[in-house]
Amino acid sequence: MREQLEQLRNGAVQAIAAATTVEQLQEIRITLLGRKGELTALMKGLGSLSAEERPVIGQLVNSVRDEIESALGTALAAAQENLIAERLSSERIDISLPGRRPLRGTKHPISLVIEEVSAIFAGLGFSVAEGPEIEHDWYNFEALNFPPEHPARDMQDTFFVENSMLLRTHTSPVQIRTMLKQKPPVRIIAPGTVYRCDSDATHSPMFHQIEGLMVDTGVTFGDLKGILTVFTNQLFGQKTGVRLRPSYFPFTEPSAEVDIACVICGGKGCRVCKNSGWLEILGAGMVDPEVYRHVQYDAEQISGFAFGMGIERIAMLKYGISDMRLLFENDVRFLRQF
Ligand code: PHE
Repeated sequence: MREQLEQLRNGAVQAIAAATTVEQLQEIRITLLGRKGELTALMKGLGSLSAEERPVIGQLVNSVRDEIESALGTALAAAQENLIAERLSSERIDISLPGRRPLRGTKHPISLVIEEVSAIFAGLGFSVAEGPEIEHDWYNFEALNFPPEHPARDMQDTFFVENSMLLRTHTSPVQIRTMLKQKPPVRIIAPGTVYRCDSDATHSPMFHQIEGLMVDTGVTFGDLKGILTVFTNQLFGQKTGVRLRPSYFPFTEPSAEVDIACVICGGKGCRVCKNSGWLEILGAGMVDPEVYRHVQYDAEQISGFAFGMGIERIAMLKYGISDMRLLFENDVRFLRQF
């Protein structure tokens, strides 16, 4: 019995020393000290010993058990510590590594121009109005004094949808929607997307305009020229020359095309202004009484002006962009420059 105990003790010490994981140590505890364990089995044999031997061997059994218990305890603690150390080193975060920066976008030049133009007109008392891009013929044409067979409809290269619906060809229908909702005085600008069936180096089937409308008592053509001069001076710099040429729009009378002195050559003549020294940037005019009739305004009581400009063209002039397609390709190398 003594020998058996001695063997068990030696075997246990070796096994514990060889074990590396918490699971292995728990396994060892079960095979030695568990209910069906080896030492437990030996203790059951104590009963068959003589009365003199029993207490001596009993003591020995106890001391072997204590020894195994304490060896297991130490080894378990060490194994658990290892486990934690391993997790700490494998899950370590290197706080000295540079972080991944989120890529920050920039505003598109079209948005920048819309914001800048809106801010200038906000300073002149104009607020921003909006309207739908899928528009009814009546708002896009009819109420703006383009009767069904009017030749000026041809100039607009309209995309038709169905049932008299179309993609708006200009932002002028917002004039109509605003005047139907609101009595004078009116001072609005309406930026937005417009569509025309036209596509080449200088035309895109989808582009942007900003409409302006001012209606009140006693508004004159002089006010129109004054407002547009203040506007172009603020947008392109003080003392940009402004010129009005007679033109035609069904919804304004008289109508004008507005030119600014070429921002590239200062009026001397270059490729951009085709050697004329002038750049056309706006259509404008006094609102035609026929338009007032459609929105139940009294043309005897009030008067006003409207204007409309292409945002792409203004962005190209302002930022020196030579090809309009760059504005729609969304190449970040281009867009990051603004
Ligand atoms: N809507 C016109 C166009 O798209 C521009 C314009 C607006 C002209 C307002 C006069 C007054 O060509």
